[in-house]
Amino acid sequence: MKKDFLSISDLDGKELANLLEHARTLKKERKRGEIREDLKGKVLAMIFEKASTRTRISFEVGMTELGGTPLFLNPRDMQLGRGEEIRDTARVMSRYVAGVMIRANRHQTLEEFSQYASIPVINGLSDREHPCQILADLMTVQERFGHLAGRKIAWIGDGNNVCNSWILVAPLTGIDLCIAAPGGYGPSDTFLDIARKQGGTIRVTESPKDAARGADVLYTDVWVSMGDEKDRASRVERLKDYSITEDLLKIASPQAIVMHCLPAHRGEEITDEVLESSRSVVWDQAENRLHTQKALLLQLLGKK
Ligand code: CP
Ligand code: NVA
Repeated sequence: MKKDFLSISDLDGKELANLLEHARTLKKERKRGEIREDLKGKVLAMIFEKASTRTRISFEVGMTELGGTPLFLNPRDMQLGRGEEIRDTARVMSRYVAGVMIRANRHQTLEEFSQYASIPVINGLSDREHPCQILADLMTVQERFGHLAGRKIAWIGDGNNVCNSWILVAPLTGIDLCIAAPGGYGPSDTFLDIARKQGGTIRVTESPKDAARGADVLYTDVWVSMGDEKDRASRVERLKDYSITEDLLKIASPQAIVMHCLPAHRGEEITDEVLESSRSVVWDQAENRLHTQKALLLQLLGKK
C-alpha cells in the first residue's frame, strides 16, 4: 500500500516523533559531509500551481542529496494546463516516477490525484494545509526547547493553511496552542473540532496579548496568502493589530522564540526589528525544511 502525506494527520504521534528524530540524524550526517544513495534511480515529480522558494529548493536539494532525481513541473507547460484531467495525469505519472509532490490551489486536487495515483503523494501546500512546513517548525521548536509537550505556542494573525496544520498537530504532540485572530479571519471550526476530539489543547481569542502572554513561541504568517489576494485591502485592515512587535514579545516568556514560515512581509505581520532579532529562528526553520523532508522522502520512497 502506498502512503501519502496530504495532512499532518496522516502521521500518528509515534510516526511523527520518529520522523523528527530521523531528521535530526540526517542533519548531523549532512554536517559531517556524509553522502547517501538511498533513493538512487528514483524520481520525485513536483507540480507547482503556485510560487515557491523554500519548498521547491528544499525538495530538489533533498532528493538530490539522497541520490534521487527531482523533476520540476509547471502545470502551465503540462497538458493539465490545457484541461487534461487530474485522474488521467495521476495514472500516467504513476507509470514514470516514484512519488509526486504537489503545491495546489485547491486541496481537492491533491485528494483526487492521490485517489488515482499508485505512488505516494505529498502536499507541498494547499489552501487547507501546509504539513511539510509544520514538520520543520516542530523540529525547530525541539532544537530550542528539547521537547514539544506542554510548549505554549501563540499563533498571531490569519487563521490560514499553516494555522490549520498547527491545529491538527496539537493532539499529536501535546503542545498548548492559542490562536489570536480577528473575527472573520479565525481558524476553521472543522479543524478545531477534529483536533479537540483527539485531545488537542487549543484556545482561540481575538486578543494578541492574551495569546502571547507567557508563550514559548510567537508564530505568524502573511495576512494575505496565495489565492487570497482578492480581499487584500479588507484583510490588511482587519489584521493590522495582529503583528509580532517588540511590545508583544515583551509579554511572552523570557525565553520565547519568534517563528515565521516565510516569505515575510516586514511591517505587516511582523516588524523588521523582531524578524532580525536574536529571538527569531526563521532561518533555522527554513533550513529544517530540508532535513525533515529528507526524512519524509526516505519514509515514503525508501526501501520498505
Ligand atoms: N514556507 C514556504 O513554504 O515557503 P515557499 O512558499 O517559498 O515554498
Ligand atoms: N499561508 C501562506 C504560506 C506560504 C508559505 C500561503 O499560503 O501563501
